[in-house]
Amino acid sequence: MDTLKLDITHAYYFAENQFESNKDAAVEAVTDVNTGRAAGSDFLGWVNLPKEISADLLGQLKATAARLQENCDYVVCIGIGGSYLGAKAVISALSNNFADLVDPAPKRPRVLFAGQNIGEEYISELQELLKGKRFGIIVISKSGTTTEPAIAFRILKAQLEEAVGKDKAKDLIVAITDAQKGALRTMANQEGYETYVIPDNVGGRFSVLTPVGLLPIAVAGFDIEKLVAGAVNMMETTLHPGPDNPAETYARMRNALYQSGKKIEILVNYNPKLHYFSEWWKQLYGESEGKDGKGIFPASVDLTTDLHSMGQWIQEGERTIFETVISVRKPSVTQRIPEDAQNLDGINYLAGKRVDEVNKMAELGTMIAHVEGGVPNMKIEIHSLDEYTLGQLIYFFEKACGISGYMLGVNPFNQPGVEAYKKNMFALLEKPGYEKETAAIKEKLSK
Ligand code: PA5
Repeated sequence: MDTLKLDITHAYYFAENQFESNKDAAVEAVTDVNTGRAAGSDFLGWVNLPKEISADLLGQLKATAARLQENCDYVVCIGIGGSYLGAKAVISALSNNFADLVDPAPKRPRVLFAGQNIGEEYISELQELLKGKRFGIIVISKSGTTTEPAIAFRILKAQLEEAVGKDKAKDLIVAITDAQKGALRTMANQEGYETYVIPDNVGGRFSVLTPVGLLPIAVAGFDIEKLVAGAVNMMETTLHPGPDNPAETYARMRNALYQSGKKIEILVNYNPKLHYFSEWWKQLYGESEGKDGKGIFPASVDLTTDLHSMGQWIQEGERTIFETVISVRKPSVTQRIPEDAQNLDGINYLAGKRVDEVNKMAELGTMIAHVEGGVPNMKIEIHSLDEYTLGQLIYFFEKACGISGYMLGVNPFNQPGVEAYKKNMFALLEKPGYEKETAAIKEKLSK
């Protein structure tokens, strides 16, 4: 099986000294992740997770997915952050670009997402869409107390119960949450929903290879065994410290670039199916590293689309950025550009070439332009877009994230900053228990 290839050639010469001098720190950080001897070790369950996923669990997930597939035309996954982005990323990467339009009567339910925003139009329009349709719900929250998914679940649960009755609704709802605690656990036990557990030692943004990601991906009709097999392969590839460990090299290079003044990393794709993969990656790195006044800002662009919007900035803006390109070697189809007798558009010089050849030349030309413009470039090449390579890519970025966070000197597995907005929102909404905060924020706003 092909493995992913990391090329740091066009980043190395921008931060050679830093890269060479942090060799030992990188080895230490790999050992920190592998042995759990550093901060955040309670949340290292994802490290060996791919090998620990049992055939039994995969079988149960596939059975639940089959039940939802049989009984639903739509399955709404409710969750936010790590309880949403992994499934969304994988399903988008593997689906037809026009999946929603291409097949008026698909064999499998369409997987929709809710609870990842508090948009009133979003939830109302979703309710409208689901009216009179056969639908089910997968509600996901590790803490079981997050406001955004709780609101969406309350609304959609009521709609489902009204449509099919409480008894039938409970068979169409699956909850994925903590084994013991949280409002969602209490509700699921009381209402008798089928449940799956998010392991205590796996944080939200590292949970795509738990039922959090695996169940929605299976419902969408993709092969979760292959996804896990790809992750197992990458787990083995990134196990030992040293120059052959691509996760270590990526973490080491990005830290070297950060030390040399490159404070923003742009994840670049040349395939629109990877748009949400970048969203997943941004959460993984942003929440893991952005703390204690430190951290590379993770951004992303879809190319060549964004070369016509963000390209100018990348080429000539403040020289504080570097880019990491995910390049897919082999598209799943062959599409050639036709000859045109009139050649009014002047592109007959491309006739007979594959669209992907033009895309690859755009990729190469952009890399050269960006490097010459002062933007270091790393490239991660995967063979094709399928479950196996996505499993590899997911685990690669997770492992590199743990290593990189430790090299940066932060605890990559907490997210204390996420609480700040919640505290203010609860105070403003006068949540019981927040009386002091409510008084304080009102006072602040009155000035
Ligand atoms: O990575 C994290 O821990 C967070 O982004 C969470 O996934 C997100 O806040 C959702 O939390 P929960 O699953 O508890 O609803």
